[in-house]
Amino acid sequence: MKSIKIGLIGFGNVGSAIFDVFNRNADLINNRLRVNLKLAAISIRNLDKAKLISDKTITVYPDPFQLIYSDVDIVIEVIGGIDIAKKIVEKAIQNKKHVVTANKELIAIHGKELLQLAKENGVLLLYEAAVGGGIPIIKSLREGLSANKIEWVAGIINGTTNYILTEMQRSRGEFSQALQQAIKKGYAEKDPTFDIEGIDAAHKLAIIASLCFDIDIQYDKVFCEGIANIELKDIDYAKKFGYAIKLLGIAKRRKEGLELRVHPSLVPIDSMIANIDLAMNGILVFGDAVGPTLHYGAGAGGEPTASSILADVMDAVRFNLLGGNNLIRTGSVGTSVSDKRILLIDDTRTSYYLRMRVRDQVGVMADVTQILAAQFISIEAMFQGEPLDSKDRAEVVIITHQTIEKNINTAIMQIENLHVVDGSVKLLRIESLEFS
Ligand code: HSE
Repeated sequence: MKSIKIGLIGFGNVGSAIFDVFNRNADLINNRLRVNLKLAAISIRNLDKAKLISDKTITVYPDPFQLIYSDVDIVIEVIGGIDIAKKIVEKAIQNKKHVVTANKELIAIHGKELLQLAKENGVLLLYEAAVGGGIPIIKSLREGLSANKIEWVAGIINGTTNYILTEMQRSRGEFSQALQQAIKKGYAEKDPTFDIEGIDAAHKLAIIASLCFDIDIQYDKVFCEGIANIELKDIDYAKKFGYAIKLLGIAKRRKEGLELRVHPSLVPIDSMIANIDLAMNGILVFGDAVGPTLHYGAGAGGEPTASSILADVMDAVRFNLLGGNNLIRTGSVGTSVSDKRILLIDDTRTSYYLRMRVRDQVGVMADVTQILAAQFISIEAMFQGEPLDSKDRAEVVIITHQTIEKNINTAIMQIENLHVVDGSVKLLRIESLEFS
């Protein structure tokens, strides 16, 4: 039986989970592949951790580049970050190793050039674990859904923010309290900026969109807005109108171009996406032939991530080392990309939630609705309540019909200039998630 060697770079939470899952399931993996797949080398910088590897058939390298120059066939990179990880992936590819990575930031920012390098060197660069942790969404898009014209994708692709929004609603707390709870539970990093500002989700959306629309990975074109401005009262008002608030990554095909955006969205409260709670991920994909499909599961965590990493390792074995045709996997090597226009956020077409604080006096609503009408914005529903802190002010929430975002922005500017309006108007986007 053919022998194939894996080298693992990084032995943190994910690295050690890969080690455990591989050891546990090596027999079934080898039976399925009909090869002798062996974890032959691990690169660990922490010498104390290195001592935990008691299997003498595994070579432990403190320096990841030594591992790359060894005789391993497949390199797994799970150290994260950009700088060293990029050098490792480049060197491994140049040394004709297949590379499997969970590094969403690296793929989102440098994926285009790294995939080109992999193509030139005749090896695979695989990154299933970069999006949705254990959910095989990349495989689904590349393979199971590959005969579909993908119309749109709407995904909860960041577990930390989903946990925070769920926690706000369940514990009736504000954002900062829910964030503290997420940190305490180990969901959010000590510096959770990438999560709460939507950057992590934007990395993942750029990767998903490349597969949906046959475009290059273009993280710099993704509009990105986080959840730090969501207040408990927005969650409550949204509920009144029949919506939940979720941080969504949305990639949508329109005849004018592609929308690529990450932001908090109001979604129908009885939709499946609205009911994906806590730190779970869920990605709704609408294909022209299949219709809607929902891909749900753990978006992070050691073993779910190891599940995706090892599946990629198995694909590298199947499609290449055993003489398969690696071009079979679009989006990885040999893809022909098309040059579709990516729309600016101003060109987004959707419906909107507007919340404003106004003086409670005659004519205020007439002024506001007149401004909306002048921009051809039709109102679907409206609510007016008295804020807790003031008797002469009113809080107004308006749900609009679909319109183009630049019209909404013009209207907001004019509304904010009315002397009867206090401060700024809060805007949130609504996704109907309609299947037609
Ligand atoms: N920070 C990420 C999340 C981890 O919260 O989903 C998985 O990519």
